[in-house]
Amino acid sequence: DPARMEKIVSLCKRRGFIFQSAEIYGGLNGCWDYGPMGVELKRNLKEYWWRKNVQEREDVVGMDGSILTHNSVLVASGHVGGFSDPMCDCLLTKERLRADQVPAQSGMGFFYTGAAKKDGSWNIEKKYSVLVESEKQADKARKTAAQYYAQLAGKDASYKDMELKGECMETVTDSTMYNPANGSLLTEAREFNLMFKTTIGATSDENDPNATGWLRPETAQSIFCQYKNILDSSRVKLPFGIAQIGKSFRNEINPRNFTFRSREFEQMEIEYFCRPEDGLRLVDEWLEHRLCFYDEVGVPREHIHILDVPDGERAFYSKKTYDLEYEFPFGIQELEGIAYRTDYDLSCHQKGSGRPLEYFDEETREKFIPHVVEPSAGCDRTILAIICEAYDEEELVDDKGKKDVRTVLRFVPRMAPIKAAIFPLLKKNGEQVRIAREIEKTLQPWMSVFYDETGAVGRRYRRQDEVGTPFCITVDFETLGENDASLKGTVTIRHRDSMKQERVAIEDLLHWLIARIR
Ligand code: GAP
Repeated sequence: DPARMEKIVSLCKRRGFIFQSAEIYGGLNGCWDYGPMGVELKRNLKEYWWRKNVQEREDVVGMDGSILTHNSVLVASGHVGGFSDPMCDCLLTKERLRADQVPAQSGMGFFYTGAAKKDGSWNIEKKYSVLVESEKQADKARKTAAQYYAQLAGKDASYKDMELKGECMETVTDSTMYNPANGSLLTEAREFNLMFKTTIGATSDENDPNATGWLRPETAQSIFCQYKNILDSSRVKLPFGIAQIGKSFRNEINPRNFTFRSREFEQMEIEYFCRPEDGLRLVDEWLEHRLCFYDEVGVPREHIHILDVPDGERAFYSKKTYDLEYEFPFGIQELEGIAYRTDYDLSCHQKGSGRPLEYFDEETREKFIPHVVEPSAGCDRTILAIICEAYDEEELVDDKGKKDVRTVLRFVPRMAPIKAAIFPLLKKNGEQVRIAREIEKTLQPWMSVFYDETGAVGRRYRRQDEVGTPFCITVDFETLGENDASLKGTVTIRHRDSMKQERVAIEDLLHWLIARIR
């Protein structure tokens, strides 16, 4: 549903979740900046992932590796030679496309130049074509082809002109017309390496292999490279995992779908080392853990598709891979891969570095290279799934029968950027303001809160609904003991989803909230 996606992107900008990078300069394609709300949401996700996978597990330790990566690491891992996507060029629009991403249902506008024969057929001299992304965009294809024709002819021309002048133009909306192999539209696919290369140090020769470095394309490789140091410096024993959260970089051929495919993104990866005989069992265990995790951050498992990647489609070294896919508004797409990678990675680095990376099992007196199960999640993709899942437009009817639409992000409270908003009912009431500010100070060390005193309280609620704040706390006249003395020292708490209100004593507020946001 493209309309839904558009609304989500627009809310993300309007309320400070996600902006395009360098937007004031026209934007840096494939790069995104998280604003005040987005950064809180992202921190919540990363912190919860860390808590569940490192803090609450005895068998997993963490690390934080460098982003700049030694050339030899990525030569040994196979990335320098083979981390690429097939790419082709559209000869007309000069656009570069990932060959496997050319949509199955694409629209193509094309026109011929040549002479009409008497029988009404055409003696075609040349055929020009323009590819667009979906069948529905046939009109766009037609217009783009007309523009291109006009350029070639050096004059103003429209589709109609071309028909009148006897030049033939047609629009097709049939994917079978797209055939990169026969060269009619796209160059043949060639491999394009996705890594960002850089030179390290003050060298004069950019191609000096000793100065070549890379921005890491995944966090995994530094885990493999430090596996031995971690084994020797901590008290871990097989099976154990090393977890890392951090930036990765891929020069994607066509970044698309908002943050879904970016050139700079964050990963949350675990390399879980084990005995060879345990790999297949552990990959299933991790699948279960990860599904629970998504459920707990607001992506219910019913909305995740589990793809058991079939033989022939997995990496050659993987004995089992699950792709967890989510139903984004733009289609069902991968969130995370959980792969049993055998001993491939450590074997590559043992060979590449010449250092022994075996594990010595004290009980069996055996020496072997551990196998690895890798749950590898995308932080930005999970954020996008959480936002898509939370986005809701609720139709409301007021007392007078007037209809209204409430936009609300229904985040699970532990993910919400702001946990509680604090309002004095009346900005002019000094006592209400004082108590509200006091509540703010009490809660601040424990959670992110937001103080707001401007506008009608109903409007303030709506502003918080749009950013997904689960609780709004209002200090009102009852708080001061007016109207009903028994309510003195209590506040109104309004729930985001049900819009129901209840009263809670100020002294219980902190515990009341903590119990609901952890
Ligand atoms: N170490 C294994 C690995 O990196 P991957 O399937 O290439 O595997 C893992 O990447 C996850 O990283 C993906 O499932 C996705 O969530 C995220 N990811 C990969 N490329 C991305 C991109 N260009 N933009 C955003 N996230 C990306």
